[in-house]
Amino acid sequence: MNEELKEFMTIDDFDVEGKTVFFRADINSVVVDGEVQMKERIEENAKTIRELSDKKAKVVILAHQGRVGRADFLPLEQHAELLKRFVDLRYIDDIMGPAARDAIRKLMDGEVLLLDNVRLLAEETLQRTPAEHARSIFVQRLAPLGDIYINDAFSVAHRSHASVVGFPAVMDAGIGRLMERELRALRRAVHSIRRPCIYVLGGVKSEEVFDIMEHTLKRGKVTEILTAGALGTLFLYARGAIEPSEEEKRDREFMAKLDRAKRILELGDDKIKCPVDVAVEEGGKRKEISIESLKPRQKIYDIGEKTAKEYTEEIKKASTVIMKGPAGWYEHEAFRKGTEELLRALSSSDAFSLIGGGHTSAALSTIGINKNELPHAHVSLAGGAFLQYLLEKNLPGIEVLKKRH
Ligand code: 3PG
Repeated sequence: MNEELKEFMTIDDFDVEGKTVFFRADINSVVVDGEVQMKERIEENAKTIRELSDKKAKVVILAHQGRVGRADFLPLEQHAELLKRFVDLRYIDDIMGPAARDAIRKLMDGEVLLLDNVRLLAEETLQRTPAEHARSIFVQRLAPLGDIYINDAFSVAHRSHASVVGFPAVMDAGIGRLMERELRALRRAVHSIRRPCIYVLGGVKSEEVFDIMEHTLKRGKVTEILTAGALGTLFLYARGAIEPSEEEKRDREFMAKLDRAKRILELGDDKIKCPVDVAVEEGGKRKEISIESLKPRQKIYDIGEKTAKEYTEEIKKASTVIMKGPAGWYEHEAFRKGTEELLRALSSSDAFSLIGGGHTSAALSTIGINKNELPHAHVSLAGGAFLQYLLEKNLPGIEVLKKRH
């Protein structure tokens, strides 16, 4: 059982009945006009919470929302209502004060209590080691009230925060079901890779994607990288297929990106593919043209049909596909075709695929592709942690959960 994750305890390794389980969830969500948006994270975390509750654990949820000082920094009252659609629970607007501690002590078997936003505590986000966080007032006050700590929040595992690393430093600890799925999928994409392994990279966050490209090329882990979106355009410049305008030449940020893309080409020119045609806008409509016919400074909104076809063929041959970032302006109906075709290629392929990045998941729902249509794919719910894992960096929240022999 759990061969691939044998250095971790899972829920199966604990008898949780009648035990107080501190459960670190990541229900951090997008906030629009003060309203917390329903997010898959809420639904997925609720599944593990329900399992624990069904097993008669007394579940205490630790979670955060937003960052201090930002508009998305909110108490967890709305999250409680959203979670209640999937699991019965009580919310308390306290974290470690007498009210919260009393509520934890009074929990009955199977009951669930959501504490308030842990980032309301200044100690939570201090950059400290697990041992230092274990000495915080937060952990010192709450840990004695619990028996087991379960972390289901892979997406916050790159943060060395008190609720992530402090509790497991002093309690029996394990990983939740969502964390199990995330770790298994990421391992298949990073450690036990079946080749050919293809990266399909797009989107606008070029710095992040550059890091991934550089890392995987240096480690010799990737068979081919298919570039699309703004990233694909940048590599077309780097290859000299598009000439930068005078204005672009004066744009330092752009030129720095271009330099980096050129250095990446030196690492694996033969492995990096660029679009051969693209979609532009003409008279308010989509028009597909070859790269050669692009006019100076003409805006590119999607990959063209030939490119989508070529990339689909490559995806068909792959055993592992890692996709991050959309191929174009998927929010606009006329320009979502490229992203849709690549995602559809994944759905009809037998390759194991890992899909990451908020925009790629958002594209899935905008286009209307259901997860059931992607039987061999894992859609990661993590952003920063996903990236760190792909770069093979140690995630403090994961390291601290490894069994101590
Ligand atoms: C996320 O949304 O990626 C996690 O909840 C982590 O949030 P943070 O970047 O504010 O730490």
